[in-house]
Amino acid sequence: MAIFKKEEKSNIIIPQHVAIIMDGNGRWAKKRGLPRTAGHKKGANNFRTIADYLNKIGVKYMTFYAFSTENWKRSKDEVDTIMALFKDYLEEAFERFHETDMKMNFIGDRSVLRPDLIELMYKIEDVSKDNKGAVVNIAINYGGRQEIVYAAKEIARKVQNGELDPEKIDEDLISAHIYTADQPDPDLIIRPSGEFRLSNFLIWQCAYSEFWYDNVLWPDFSAKDVDRAINDYSSRQRRFGGVK
Ligand code: FPP
Repeated sequence: MAIFKKEEKSNIIIPQHVAIIMDGNGRWAKKRGLPRTAGHKKGANNFRTIADYLNKIGVKYMTFYAFSTENWKRSKDEVDTIMALFKDYLEEAFERFHETDMKMNFIGDRSVLRPDLIELMYKIEDVSKDNKGAVVNIAINYGGRQEIVYAAKEIARKVQNGELDPEKIDEDLISAHIYTADQPDPDLIIRPSGEFRLSNFLIWQCAYSEFWYDNVLWPDFSAKDVDRAINDYSSRQRRFGGVK
């Protein structure tokens, strides 16, 4: 496992919230003459490794893009495999929750997922809610636009019930109605596999996030790559629209 070199440590700024688009599983498998599903299997294992590493180096919030609202367009076989890998992880996380200090949270519209998955997701959130380690958000059936629609409906209901004055709607109020309410916005968004797109990921939250892209495919993305991304992030000047 990579750990920052001593001489680098003093200049390193550990981001509070790291968000990752786990891209390149299909290409990883294709390069090896394997079915795409083999890439997802390796990618799901790598999620475990990278989440543990981020927790270990002191990242307090992390968000992983596991399945988007658009990913249902993939073949049934591929969707079924991703859901099966997700279920394997959920079962493991539920059985072994006491072995980790991480707090699990699922973002996205879970209502259309299989009932066995939904039940496990609620159970894991419940058993891990008092953990003191990093908050791990897994985005599943998640879309940034869908999240904003969800927030808009919640706010509209409150206005309709007379609980909320429309004049009180501001950025903070919208932030308080999205899935990551109470969490800081991502400082760093990582997208491996050489794509330069946001793909509907955290579009409200990442207004001032720093981006890091690389050609490495997700199943090969390692703790060393996390270090490279954080080294680069540490050298950025964040101005949030101001002047420094
Ligand atoms: C993107 O690569 C990857 C996905 C759409 C699925 C990611 C899912 C997992 C890693 C498994 C989820 C499970 C857990 C435990 C979180 P791609 O298939 O688009 O790759 P490509 O661009 O090379 O085709």
